[in-house]
Amino acid sequence: MKSSKRTEIVKLLQGQQTGQQVTAMGWVRNKREGKNVFFVTLNDGSCLQSLQVVVDPTTTSDEVLRKISVGAALSVNGTLVASQGKGQSVELQANEVVVLGEADPEKYPIQPKKHSLEFLREKAHLRMRTNTFGAVFRIRHHLQFAVHQFFNQEGFFNLHTPIITASDAEGAGEMFQVTTLDLKNPPRTEEGEIDFKKDFFERSTNLTVSGQLEGELGATALGKIYTFGPTFRAENSNTSRHLAEFWMIEPEVAFYELEDNMDLAERMLKYVIRYALEHCAEDLEFLAQRAAEEEKQKPQNERSEMGLLERLQFVLEHPFERLSYTEAIEILRNSQHNRKKKFQYLIEEWGADLQSEHERYLVEKHFKKPVILYNYPAAIKAFYMRLNEDGNTVRAMDILFPGIGEIVGGSQREERYDELKERAAAFGIEPEALWWYLETRRFGTVPHSGFGLGFERLMLFVTGMTNIRDVIPFPRFPGSAEF
Ligand code: 4AD
Ligand code: MG
Repeated sequence: MKSSKRTEIVKLLQGQQTGQQVTAMGWVRNKREGKNVFFVTLNDGSCLQSLQVVVDPTTTSDEVLRKISVGAALSVNGTLVASQGKGQSVELQANEVVVLGEADPEKYPIQPKKHSLEFLREKAHLRMRTNTFGAVFRIRHHLQFAVHQFFNQEGFFNLHTPIITASDAEGAGEMFQVTTLDLKNPPRTEEGEIDFKKDFFERSTNLTVSGQLEGELGATALGKIYTFGPTFRAENSNTSRHLAEFWMIEPEVAFYELEDNMDLAERMLKYVIRYALEHCAEDLEFLAQRAAEEEKQKPQNERSEMGLLERLQFVLEHPFERLSYTEAIEILRNSQHNRKKKFQYLIEEWGADLQSEHERYLVEKHFKKPVILYNYPAAIKAFYMRLNEDGNTVRAMDILFPGIGEIVGGSQREERYDELKERAAAFGIEPEALWWYLETRRFGTVPHSGFGLGFERLMLFVTGMTNIRDVIPFPRFPGSAEF
């Protein structure tokens, strides 16, 4: 039997094994030839820092020395010693270097220099081997773990809702069709329409845009549930905040009113951000520095007032501003920005759908902190939201974050059977299609609420990255599904 007996670099750097014989394995980030000595920077992804490996060229074959190039994978056995050089506390004095995998220096695209994020997006199969993406994806792991930990501690049950569904929860029609029909020659009904009765599920199906509707079924049985799954939207928005495939966290709670829902969302966001600060300090500091350098490239008036770490701390320390849609419209309508026609979409009257420029104005210019907007016009929100007594607003709430805009969308749900049926009909949804959803309102219906947090939008905020394509390993967006 063979075993690798490797020690991860994150462990080696802690220094307890100084003086011992150890084996490190990883990929070469850099190679420097000193006087009678080779310095190799080895990274195995276990942490941001690399291990300095010192290779003696007189005891290492020329062939091995030649194959130690940037990108190559090595196994190095040697003695861990206190480092003489600057920048690291320990280094590995190599006895034996085995080249596990060569990397042709002419062809390996990730060189020890600054590559643009655009360039690295085209090299998504290798970009995780950079400091930036290593940090981002380690943080992604910790953040998703924090989400599960938060809900577990609060007594929620994780519910796996289906990925293939026959319903359009958001009613926006932005769905990816799932079919096994022959696209060249689909079966047709007598009317000439495609006959989905002959499809795999004997109906038309799509990838889910939200697990909420099934989540509500769970909440009205288990009390407090959350989902955390992939979500698909075929909206053709080529923005830095939209993906066609993203991950959404959707808690749903029986007996919750809208305000309980806001409290839960605020508590959760603060919990996971604090968790990241506590568990990802090294990676966050690296990204903070990176972001600070990016800021310097911007004109003075566009630079943000706070650095990444201050921004995260600030959110923890301040209650989110809560105000109604109606109040927000007043602020926006009377703003200098609106008067001077600086918005692309001017705010003229109550009922207008808020664009990201308006959301960001409220958060970044007016309140300078996260904002929870609630009680939106019924006409611009989904059919399942609870109608208020005024008859024209619904108990919706959106949470808006600096630099991002909407990060959470949620609501108290319409729990009254007749009202829900009416609202669905008004949205052109046939009651037969959602009979199972409607039945929860006939059998033991209760007030309940929930929300959806876009995990990648949270990632944007926590990492300070500015394009959503850089916080998911393999982004899906219009025209792109290569990796
Ligand atoms: O506001 P949305 O559409 O709400 C829902 O889907 C509800 N069913 C949630 C619920 O009440 N259970 O989406 C929720 C969040 C948004 O606030 C945003 O953060 C994220 O999901 N989101 C996207 N993230 C990335 N790419 C996209 N195309 C996104 N669309 C929504
Ligand atoms: Mg929304």
